Amino acid sequence: MASQKEMDFTYSLIDKMFRLSIGEFADYSGAMYDGDFSLSLEEAQHRKHEYITRNLGIGPGTRMLDLSCGWGPLLTHVRDIGATGVGLTLSAGQAAACQSRGLDVHLRDCRTIDRDAFGGFDAVASVGGFEHFCSIEDYRAGKQDAIYQDLFRRVATLLPEKGRFFLQTMVFGENMLPVDQLDVNAPRDSDAFMLGLMTKQFPGSWLPYGKEQAERTAEPYFRLVSASSGRLDYIETIRQWRKRFAAPSFRKTLLKLSLVPRYLLSRDFRLAFASGVSSNTACFERKLMDHYRLVFEKR
Ligand SMILES: C[S@@+](CC[C@H](N)C(=O)[O-])C[C@H]1O[C@@H](n2cnc3c(N)ncnc32)[C@H](O)[C@@H]1O
Repeated sequence: MASQKEMDFTYSLIDKMFRLSIGEFADYSGAMYDGDFSLSLEEAQHRKHEYITRNLGIGPGTRMLDLSCGWGPLLTHVRDIGATGVGLTLSAGQAAACQSRGLDVHLRDCRTIDRDAFGGFDAVASVGGFEHFCSIEDYRAGKQDAIYQDLFRRVATLLPEKGRFFLQTMVFGENMLPVDQLDVNAPRDSDAFMLGLMTKQFPGSWLPYGKEQAERTAEPYFRLVSASSGRLDYIETIRQWRKRFAAPSFRKTLLKLSLVPRYLLSRDFRLAFASGVSSNTACFERKLMDHYRLVFEKR
């Protein structure tokens, strides 16, 4: 699993940059355009929130757990529609930001969740967190299936019979390379390089092999109700993010200047955040990665 230090490298470090560019409490995961790219990023994220709560049956008086809540966009929607939300994150910056807005968010590892922690829930969601639950080392040690299966088992204990779990996650796609071929020293435009960059951007993280691995490991506890690919929607989401990251602002310039020492001292930092390449876009376009929205129902 990605450690708290690794999550902080990825999230707390870019916390300010993300919030200055995309919005104070924005989604850091693929939006739901459903092919309608005339929508604004905010509209497409809102569409995703509505899709999730509708599929989970969340409305006034219900209670939902958000495993890996980020800056709290889904929890905010849950609160807006009169439901109660509890969120978990492994990033101290995100937890503090959520708590400052009165969201019930805890700095806690999702993978240890059980009923003793916060009681039961009507539904559970995880948007963009599953990617971090298994590390490349876990994968090499043959633990990936067991890690996912344990998470599904734990989530099932929180839910009533037929309770639902929404899972949105990147997965490896049909053109994924064998792990040993991933290499940041490979030719710059190669698949091996693009995948190698992903491992620098998301240290400690590894993806499920297709939606099939998620479905298979969930199988003892959940039946898959629906699955839709958000690969093209994610490409558009990243396009919108990059436009906003590039938009100039005085505060962003100050922030970038404060990161110069890190840029100079750490090759990993340069590769992760300053390579000038959108490796996740390339991975989606080349089907090295895909992206799924999965709705599960407890057996
Ligand atoms: C890509 S962000 C997505 C955040 C949010 N769901 C959204 O859509 O904006 C991934 C989130 O997963 C959280 N995360 C990763 N591993 C975790 C773990 N083991 N326990 C709790 N949170 C975790 C990170 O802290 C971060 O908040």
